[in-house]
Formats: sequence, structure tokens, C-alpha cells
Amino acid sequence: MSLKIPRYDINLEPSMSKHPDFNRKSILMHTQSGFKSEIIAIVPLTAHEKLFHIRICDPCERENFAFLPGQFVMLELPGCGEVPISISSSSSNKEFIALCIRKVGKVTGMLHRLKPGTIVGIRGPFGTHFPMEKMVGHNILLIAGGLGIVPLRSPIYWVNEHRSDYGDITVMYGAKEPGQILFGYQFEEWRRIYGLNILTIVQNAGKGRQGKEGIITDLFDDIDIDSDNTFAVVCGPPVMFKFVCAHLSKSGLPRQRMFVSLERRMHCGMGKCCRCNVGSTFTCLDGPVFDYWTVMNLKEAI
Ligand SMILES: Cc1cc2nc3c(=O)[nH]c(=O)nc-3n(C[C@H](O)[C@H](O)[C@H](O)COP(=O)(O)OP(=O)(O)OC[C@H]3O[C@@H](n4cnc5c(N)ncnc54)[C@H](O)[C@@H]3O)c2cc1C
Ligand code: FES
Repeated sequence: MSLKIPRYDINLEPSMSKHPDFNRKSILMHTQSGFKSEIIAIVPLTAHEKLFHIRICDPCERENFAFLPGQFVMLELPGCGEVPISISSSSSNKEFIALCIRKVGKVTGMLHRLKPGTIVGIRGPFGTHFPMEKMVGHNILLIAGGLGIVPLRSPIYWVNEHRSDYGDITVMYGAKEPGQILFGYQFEEWRRIYGLNILTIVQNAGKGRQGKEGIITDLFDDIDIDSDNTFAVVCGPPVMFKFVCAHLSKSGLPRQRMFVSLERRMHCGMGKCCRCNVGSTFTCLDGPVFDYWTVMNLKEAI
């Protein structure tokens, strides 16, 4: 009889599969200055994405943990591996950070099988952030495709908490199908309470044909861009950047006022392993948030 062992089990010692020992040396090797943390809630969002609320166990470390919108953490599942994940909660939330994780492979697949109460490790925060301070006094266009809405939740909370500092905020969000729209349950609150203009579009609206059908750039027909007074932040698959940024350029927006978040495979998150570089640029240190002018000058960035 052949036994089928899931891939992640190969890396787990029998004792660890039930009670991971977070203090093991081999685990801490990757988590120098990392934080022992607990998953306190898991919210299923779609068939492939779940939202994890993660709380740093030590109250002092929790209080001191600070990040800015656009930054990411390395999330470690002891005995399984570590993955870079964007922080998707308010930077003023001192209780927990929210991470929305799509199940794609070994570590994310295993994370999707966990229950609240599991101990994990987080390192960080890492990387550059969206220029919230530069954008003060301006309108902001937040443009997301698919999972790209995840890192945009932090700036959305930010602008709500500093609402009088910013002008009009428009969120343009495209997904493949209605069932793949993430955080749709928050849109009404974002519209009515945060005062955001939210436009969504799906490539395939399905039988119900509710909402607008098409690709993200079709939404430009529905908005007026005040190019002298607007910043744009674009998150999503790299192929989207080119088309969206071309439309923004056509509207007169300078490339230095367009920001994108680049994703590369990462290992250390702190400029040591050379896993994430584009030319001589490390996306973990110099990014993931870049202005589009810089990205255009980076060979093979998109
Ligand atoms: C700065 C940053 C922020 C991220 N934020 C999020 C987030 O908020 N939510 C989320 O779900 N994911 C996010 N990711 C992607 C996430 O890190 C990967 O999906 C994860 O590392 C995959 O690990 P795995 O062990 O499950 O998959 P693996 O078993 O290692 O690989 C499964 C498949 O995914 C591909 N893959 C793995 N890593 C990446 C990557 N970085 N980019 C593109 N393809 C990859 C592999 O090529 C392979 O085809 C982010 C990545 C970066 C660099
Ligand atoms: S992830 Fe190691 S150098 Fe960037």
C-alpha cells in the first residue's frame, strides 16, 4: 500500500505537527528579531483567500510594533517555512495585524489549514511604504487588480483616520469574477463613512450580470482626473501596471506621482540573500513600493 504524504508533512517532525516549539534554534535562525505571535481569528473570504488576525504575544513588543501602509512582514509557520505578506490593517491598530493570504503553494496552503490559537512568527515590518505624507492635500486614486486590494486596505484606513488631510479618494478595483472580489462587505462602510468613491469591474460578470463588466482600464471612462492635484497607487499583477500607468500618463499624471508595489520572490526580507533583486535594486529594501518613474528605469522590473 502506498502512503500519500502531503508535501508540507515532509518538513514537520511528528511532535511539531501538533505543538510547534517556537523556541527551537533552527526556527529562530530565520526569525532574528522576530515576534512570537498568535493567530487570533481566521476569516474565510473566498475559496482561495483567508484573512488572518495575528497578535504579537508579548504586550511590550505588540505596543512597539509600528508599520506604515505598504509595508510587509515575513510570516513564519514553524517547521514549514516563511512567506512575505503585505499588512492589510490600520497602522493605528495595536491589537493585531491583518494578513490576507491566498493559498498558492506549500506555506500558504498549510496556513489555510490552521486554526485560531496557532503560534506563528512574524519578522518586520519590511520595505518601503506608500508616500502618505507626500500625498497630503491631494486627491488619491487607489487602483487594484485581484489580490492587489490587500495592501491598499492600510492606506484606506490611514486616509479615513486623517480624512481632512486628503482630497477626494477613489478606489478602482478589478477582479476576474464577482466571487473573487475581496472585502466587498466593507465597500458600503468605505463609501458612506469613509467618504470614498468606489468603482468595481469584473472581467466575467456571469449569469447575474450585476455591475460593470470589462477590464480595470475601462473604469477610467467613469472618472475625471485632476492631474495637477492627484497621486495614484497601483497594486496588482505586473501586466496591469503598464496599461494602468499608460492611461494615467495620458491623463497628464506625472510618473513620479504614480506608485506601484512590486512583488518578487523573497527569502530574507532584509537585503542579505539576493533573492529579490531587479538589477542592483533589492525589492525587499528599496521596495516593494516604487514610483513608476523608477520602475520604468529598472530593467525587467515589469
Ligand atoms: C512584498 C510581498 C508582499 C506579498 N503580499 C501578499 C499578500 O498580502 N497576500 C498573499 O496571499 N500573498 C502575498 N505575497 C505573495 C506570497 O508571498 C507568495 O504567494 C508566497 O510566498 C507563496 O509561498 P508558498 O510556499 O505558499 O508557495 P510556493 O510553494 O513557494 O510556490 C507556489 C507558487 O507560487 C509562486 N510564487 C511564490 N512566491 C511568489 C511571489 N512572491 N510572487 C509571485 N509568485 C510567487 C511560485 O512560483 C509557485 O508557482 C507577497 C509577496 C511579496 C514579495
Ligand atoms: S529577500 Fe533577501 S535580499 Fe531581498
